Amino acid sequence: MRLDQHIASSSELSRKDARRVVISGRVSVNGTRCKSASTHVTEHDQIMLDDRFLTLPGALYLMMNKPAGVISATRDSNQPTALDLLPADMARHVHIAGRLDKDTTGLLLLTSDGKWSHQVTSPRRDCAKTYQILLAESLSEDARLSLEQGVLLNGEDKPTQPARVVVRAPTTIELTIREGRYHQVKRMLAAVGNHVAALHRLSIGSIVLDDALAPGQHRTLTAAEIAAITEPD
Ligand code: URA
Repeated sequence: MRLDQHIASSSELSRKDARRVVISGRVSVNGTRCKSASTHVTEHDQIMLDDRFLTLPGALYLMMNKPAGVISATRDSNQPTALDLLPADMARHVHIAGRLDKDTTGLLLLTSDGKWSHQVTSPRRDCAKTYQILLAESLSEDARLSLEQGVLLNGEDKPTQPARVVVRAPTTIELTIREGRYHQVKRMLAAVGNHVAALHRLSIGSIVLDDALAPGQHRTLTAAEIAAITEPD
């Protein structure tokens, strides 16, 4: 749809006023100022008027228990994606809020609301993510302390932020991190001389993977789960 149409549908403004605010430079699309009211946008784009995100009514919010072997991409012609596991009319409208590696399982959030997904993934929001990890070797006390204090990832010069580690068994831990660097969990464990044998996401903020969902299944989020993302955790 056109940008002015999106603004009129997601705010109190008329189409004429929507055009005016765009031309006056008050609107950005995915972080870049846009002065053309006829610009084509979709529900996946993040539209801001001044410092306010605009959300289209009737947005979709889902959780999925991601199975191993599917990628967290919107579309890939060669490999199965998480969206292929949804009914086609639903998949058309949603995007993934916080990716997982192909071999990682567990909680994946999907939505048609660009503002909401921004809050899930924004480094400024520091949303906590908890992973269950099966390790190749048992975790030493030194390694646990290093993970909790912050470790230097290969090729980076800034240590990771303090993490929370809960040891469930010698080779099974839960790790809570607030950042989202590339392959972060696997690289954190590599940094302390261990190796991730299996990785499963349990929660994002206070949204916990529903254990009634078999791998590949999804359900819509409750109103409380949707609202929880905007509250501090
Ligand atoms: N960290 C990883 O290394 N992989 C994931 O899929 C998620 C977090």
